[in-house]
Amino acid sequence: MTFVVADNCIKCKYTDCVPVCPVDAFYEGENFLVIHPDICIDCGLCVPECPAEAIFQDTELPKEQQHYLQLNADLAEIWPNITELKPAPQDAADWLGVENKLPLLVE
Ligand code: SF4
Ligand code: F3S
Repeated sequence: MTFVVADNCIKCKYTDCVPVCPVDAFYEGENFLVIHPDICIDCGLCVPECPAEAIFQDTELPKEQQHYLQLNADLAEIWPNITELKPAPQDAADWLGVENKLPLLVE
């Protein structure tokens, strides 16, 4: 079991999820975060912190977003760890709730 960052995070990247994680399981790309599945202890604390409602338990990922499970695992191996809140992108609010942002993900 793990929690997974999904589509809604792309280009929003508020990072409110980061400081609450007790095991520093978040990894940072240019416009998206991921959770390392081997580090996440399934506490669920990050879920209510995300203004974009982008974090799901792996078993509750929407069907059309199943690929984010593997994407989190893969990108967490190559992206740097992030442990502190940082300012969201200036246009984050413009992307809030926009669907199917995967083509915009910078890996
Ligand atoms: Fe961290 Fe808990 Fe969220 Fe997993 S569920 S990423 S351990 S805050
Ligand atoms: Fe992304 Fe939400 Fe965290 S937008 S960076 S999962 S607070």
